[in-house]
Amino acid sequence: MLTGAGISAESGLKTFRDNDGLWETHRVEDVATPEAFARDPALVQRFYNERRAALSDAAPNAAHKALGRLQGALRDRGGALVLVTQNVDDLHERGGARDVIHMHGELTGGLCAACGHRWTVDGALTPDSSCPACGTIGGPRPDIVWFGEMPYRMERIETELACADRFVSIGTSGAVYPAAGFVHAARAHGLQTLELNLEPSLGTPHFADARHGPAGTLVPEWAGEVLAGLS
Ligand code: OAD
Repeated sequence: MLTGAGISAESGLKTFRDNDGLWETHRVEDVATPEAFARDPALVQRFYNERRAALSDAAPNAAHKALGRLQGALRDRGGALVLVTQNVDDLHERGGARDVIHMHGELTGGLCAACGHRWTVDGALTPDSSCPACGTIGGPRPDIVWFGEMPYRMERIETELACADRFVSIGTSGAVYPAAGFVHAARAHGLQTLELNLEPSLGTPHFADARHGPAGTLVPEWAGEVLAGLS
């Protein structure tokens, strides 16, 4: 399963491409690239500090909770729901999901550009922050995969796609690779493919099935059908 910003929209977190190409009034290239960070680290740190702080005002919605429940039910029966998300929020975890693969990193993560150390950020990062491991001032950056950087855990994702029986994509525009290409790999491996999204996306033509509407409605419905099919 792959999720994107659309699954968190009903929790009040803004998607990337539904606001004239702006993310919380910023152009993506001004806040989500290594070049932007080199040019204006204070702006980029402030932007992610605000997103991190906003997490505590957001709560998981019915879609996150339905996936958490479905994952637990499948696990109890010896199965698995592998949850890969492009989202940097923690709403899947707070909705009850475990072992979430955050391919674009996490807002709660810090990464030292000098020594590679990773830690959980409590509060804000600034250009004057120092790395808790090596002490380098200015080393800390958000542990977010920016444009031009390699998404995390691609090998594991490719392995899971090769041995799953279905691939479901929820709340993503299909605009950003490599995630947008997972449906092609899924079809090549003979998986059933289903898109659940507010509206037809760039990826829709590649899915065998698609349902359109808000995730908070579609996901619990679909998860209920899967559960009913198990019992
Ligand atoms: P996008 O903003 O590109 O797409 C969000 C999708 O969710 C759109 O297709 C919307 O139609 C859909 N949507 C909106 N509200 C919804 C709802 N209530 N229920 C269901 N669907 C809804 O977000 P992503 O596809 O996640 O990368 O973007 C992919 C990546 O591009 C992000 O991870 C981020 C971004 O730039 C990085 O920051 C590296």
